[in-house]
Amino acid sequence: MYGRITSTRPAADGIAQITIETEQSHRAEPGSHIDVRIPDGTTRSYSVVSGSADGRAVTIGVRLSPTSNGGSTFMHDLAPGDDVNVTAPLQNFPLRVGARRYVLLAGGIGITAIAAMAAVLRRVGADYRLVYVGRRRSAMAFLPELVALHGDRIDVAVDDEGSGLDVTSLIAALGTGTELYMCGPIRLMDAVRRCWLDHDLPVTDLRYETFGNSGWFDAEEFVVSIPKLDLTTTVSPGDSLLAALEKAGADMMFDCRKGECGLCQVKVVASDGTIDHRDVFLSEKQKSADDTMCCCVSRVVSGGRRASVTLEIP
Ligand code: FES
Repeated sequence: MYGRITSTRPAADGIAQITIETEQSHRAEPGSHIDVRIPDGTTRSYSVVSGSADGRAVTIGVRLSPTSNGGSTFMHDLAPGDDVNVTAPLQNFPLRVGARRYVLLAGGIGITAIAAMAAVLRRVGADYRLVYVGRRRSAMAFLPELVALHGDRIDVAVDDEGSGLDVTSLIAALGTGTELYMCGPIRLMDAVRRCWLDHDLPVTDLRYETFGNSGWFDAEEFVVSIPKLDLTTTVSPGDSLLAALEKAGADMMFDCRKGECGLCQVKVVASDGTIDHRDVFLSEKQKSADDTMCCCVSRVVSGGRRASVTLEIP
């Protein structure tokens, strides 16, 4: 549907807060996101940080990606009065109201998926803690507003100040009946998932949202070949492997494009680089075998020369 930008402002270093007014009214549940169409015809998903009471406007936070291939650059260039093509708020990270206690954990730009949940839990008088982790304060979006709103229910962990998050202590201190919702870099989420399992906590009480774009290594250009299709193409740092294969004419299967559903799995026949598994679908055992990868988010790196990977697709 049609949307109009009504305001933009910096929310932190490299992060823009953008409010979009839509022609129709739609309620934005906590954990929802909107998809925005960018000029090349593809879409980008952005979590709804807040929605207006009448359902006519949503506010999102957009981090300018150093490897942007159009999405975040386009969003950062928007100005009040510009028109955009957006979806109504879509939900795939729902907050279950009614748990005994909640911990909401946000790392970096992941706060955009968590902020609305915290606001709702505060409003309904739930027992919750908001843990906000960042490298430095100036890069932590909405920090002053969140501190003012959540008072002693927010814990701020800042790496540069030596107060980084101790994941083990956080998880060890949780009692039964606590649900943890998290969104952030894969390293943080992976550490929490491992610790959660080590403490035998119920897996259904750990819920997370991935942005599918943070990995163990910086994105690099690499070459992909699919001999059966007689296809060889280059994947730029700003493109996903899935997008590069689609552009090269391969008929790909996918659904979430965020490393969650596993539908885009491809078989790795050979690689001279390291596979940077960025999904949360494959098990640790499958990832260490390196014979399959979720091509919507995972990549290949070599740390210098250009790596290559040979695939088979279903
Ligand atoms: S499309 Fe869902 S994991 Fe890749």
